[in-house]
Amino acid sequence: MTTPSTSTPAPTITLTPFGTLPDGRAAQLYTLANTRGAQVSITNYGGIITRVLVPDRLGRLADITTGFDMVEKYTPANPYFGALIGRFANRIAAGKFTLDGKPFRVTPNSASNGHPCSLHGGATGFDKVLWRASPFLSPDGAAAALKLRYLSKDGEEGYPGNLEVAVTYAWNNDNELRIDYHATTDKPTPVNLTNHAYFNLAGEGSPTILDHILTLNASRMTPVDNAVIPTGQITPVAGTPFDFTAPRAIGERINDDDEQLKIAGGYDHNFVLDRPAPGLSKAADIYEPVTGRVLEILTDQPGLQLYTGNFFDGSCVGKSNRPYTRRAAFAFETQHYPDSPNQPNFPNTILRPGEKYQTATIYRFTTRS
Ligand code: GLA
Repeated sequence: MTTPSTSTPAPTITLTPFGTLPDGRAAQLYTLANTRGAQVSITNYGGIITRVLVPDRLGRLADITTGFDMVEKYTPANPYFGALIGRFANRIAAGKFTLDGKPFRVTPNSASNGHPCSLHGGATGFDKVLWRASPFLSPDGAAAALKLRYLSKDGEEGYPGNLEVAVTYAWNNDNELRIDYHATTDKPTPVNLTNHAYFNLAGEGSPTILDHILTLNASRMTPVDNAVIPTGQITPVAGTPFDFTAPRAIGERINDDDEQLKIAGGYDHNFVLDRPAPGLSKAADIYEPVTGRVLEILTDQPGLQLYTGNFFDGSCVGKSNRPYTRRAAFAFETQHYPDSPNQPNFPNTILRPGEKYQTATIYRFTTRS
C-alpha cells in the first residue's frame, strides 16, 4: 500500500487474510489506521466493520464494536454485526409491496411475534455477499479509505432491477468514520441502505449499555404494531420513554410499562430525526461515563433505528471470548423508515432509472470528562 512520502505521519491500510467462505472464496480484512493510532477493520464479506479501536479519556485504546475475528464465525446466523444492510434495511411487512401498480414479493426471512416479514434485504442480504474492495489513501493524507462495490442483480431476493451499489468507508485523523452510500438502478426499486454496527463504548464484551447516556435529535417516532411494522403514524416522543431529546441513560425507562417497549422487548424503533436543513446533521450523541468515550452520529437520512440488543441471549461469543448478553450492545441504524414501500405517509424510498441514490453517515468518536 502506498503512503505519501513526507516526514509527517500518514494513515495506513493493512490487508490480512480473514478466512474462507463455505464456497471456497477467501475473505480479506482491511485495517484502516489513522495518525492517532485509532483503527477500523472492515472485511469485504458483507462490508462488515469487525473492529473499532478508539481511545478513552486517558488515551487508552479499546475495541468497542461487537464481532468476530474470522469470516467463518460470521457466516452462521448472527444479528447483523457491523454489516452493510440492503437492498432494504429493516422490515417489509409480509415481504410484499406494490410498485407502479405491480405487486412484488421479497423473501420473508424473519417473523416478529409470529408475523412474517422481509428483514434487512431477505435471506441473502448485502450483509452476506462478497464485495469488490479497493483501498485508498485520500490524497491529502487525512484519511484511509475502502471502497466496496456490489451488483445486486435484477430479481435478487425478489427486488426489481439491477442495482449497482458502492459504499465507501473513510477513517480520518479526527477519529471519524464516514460512510458514503451510492446506488443506481435500471428498474424502479425500493432502496434503503445502512450499516448495522453495534457498540458498547465501555469496550466490546462489557455487560451492558443501559448506563450509556443518550441524546437524540428526534422529537417524533414511528410506533409499531404487534408485527413490529410501523402503524403509519408519526407521534411525538414527549412524555414517553422514547424522549431522549435531553440526555438520559438508555436503561432509565427501558423496562417501563409501555406498550411500544413491550412489543419489541426494549428499544427497536425508528426515530424521526429533527433536521435543521438538508445535508448532514447531528442525530445522536452517546456518552459512556466510566471511560468518557462519546459516539456522535451525523447523517442526512430521515430516520434512525435504535436497537438495544433485546434478543441477545449470551449464545453468541465474541472475539474476546465474552458472550453477548441481552442489552450488551446497541445499534443505531441511520435509514429511511421501516416498511416505507407500503407506507404512503412516509418519505419516498423508490429509486428510479436515471436517479442517483446518495447518502452519508458519520460515526465520530471523541471523549468527554
Ligand atoms: C434491527 C431490527 C431488529 C433486529 C436487529 C438485528 O434492528 O429492527 O429487530 O432484527 O435488526 O437482529
